[in-house]
Amino acid sequence: MTILAIETSCDESALALIETRTNNGNFECRVISSLIHSQAELHSAYGGVFPSLAKREHGKNLPPLLDKLLTDSNLTSKTVSNEEQLNIRAIIENFKTELSGQNPDLLDSLEKAQFLNSIPLIDRIAVTEGPGLEPALWVGINFAGFLSKLWSIPIVPVNHMEGHIIGSLLESDKPSDKWQALKKLQLPAVALLISGGHTELVKIGPKMASGAFKYTIIGQTKDDAVGEAFDKTARLLGLSYPGGPNISRLANEARKMKITPEVKLPRPMISSGDLNFSFSGLKTAVLYAVRDYSKIHKDLDDNFKRGLALEFEEAVTEVLDSKLRKAIDQYGAKALIIGGGVSANERLRKQFEQTATEYGLDIFMPSRHVSGDNALMIALAGALHLNEDVRDIKASGTMKLGTSS
Ligand code: KG4
Ligand code: ZN
Repeated sequence: MTILAIETSCDESALALIETRTNNGNFECRVISSLIHSQAELHSAYGGVFPSLAKREHGKNLPPLLDKLLTDSNLTSKTVSNEEQLNIRAIIENFKTELSGQNPDLLDSLEKAQFLNSIPLIDRIAVTEGPGLEPALWVGINFAGFLSKLWSIPIVPVNHMEGHIIGSLLESDKPSDKWQALKKLQLPAVALLISGGHTELVKIGPKMASGAFKYTIIGQTKDDAVGEAFDKTARLLGLSYPGGPNISRLANEARKMKITPEVKLPRPMISSGDLNFSFSGLKTAVLYAVRDYSKIHKDLDDNFKRGLALEFEEAVTEVLDSKLRKAIDQYGAKALIIGGGVSANERLRKQFEQTATEYGLDIFMPSRHVSGDNALMIALAGALHLNEDVRDIKASGTMKLGTSS
């Protein structure tokens, strides 16, 4: 089965193509191609993701990205009869009429597209339906709907957060002729999902009759997501978006230079007794620290910034790790998954690895390519839902993964 995946939930326009098969009853896949067009630089002028700009950019990016994906992957195309050709023309004209009011950027970009001239042998389209920015999600969903009609193949809707979970189980994200099995996950497992929009602890398991996992949200943030706290803190320190990597760089410099932070930040909700989080207070504490410092000094000194970045990263690490340990104890986790863009953070990765070692658990974290938003994880998560009934797909900004505990 060949699956094309589309991801447009935030500021990455991403497409991927994988092939799947069952080998001795086990799921296997082959990565054919995975492309990510990041809009981060464009959004950095706004200090965060600007939804209408993201929508426009996805419209511009998807057709050329699909052309590149199909050219790179050398897929065989179906021969199209004259009758089919007429049908295809009608579908294209219909979609163009729909788009003219809704998404002129996608319309413009479609005019130059090469993929309209043939039908590649693809069996399914997996697309992110939520959670994320609704105007951005709709671009991917509408594009998937169009391709589904054009190629007469079904769509599989995918929850973005499940993508972050399953993406961590991939052995290798490199395009290759080799087949690979997903890493074996002992159940129940606990996933810590940390991104720009989410901070969630999810219990995974048991496996359901369909072969998909059962998910239960066992903890979540009451306000800001941890990635959002990184981004807002970075902004307060005059660093550009996305803030996570910049904060991490300053914190590492502080460690190397043995700088002692001038400010002690809170560890929000560390003793709350439950598995929930809160990060808005942490950002406010950084705001006050910067304000107090600015009353005395004209500019923020580099070492003050380094110290504050270090203290911030330590506060986040302590809180996330303490809740992760609590979740392991409470749910008898046999394995850990860390997913989402913030899982690229080196300090956090080291801490979670140490925790897994102490508990004697397997830990799965995504490689760099699949730690941020990408379509490869959407293709893999989609592959777990191929047997489900076809249904209408609607963008859902606040879509939940499974049930809440
Ligand atoms: O999963 P993701 O790519 O997009 C969302 O679905 O939100 O996560 C993006 C978030 C941003 O807030 C970014 O600052 C953060 O991940 N991030 C990091 C690092 N790299 C990316 N945060 C901390 N340390 C990093 N190295
Ligand atoms: Zn994400």
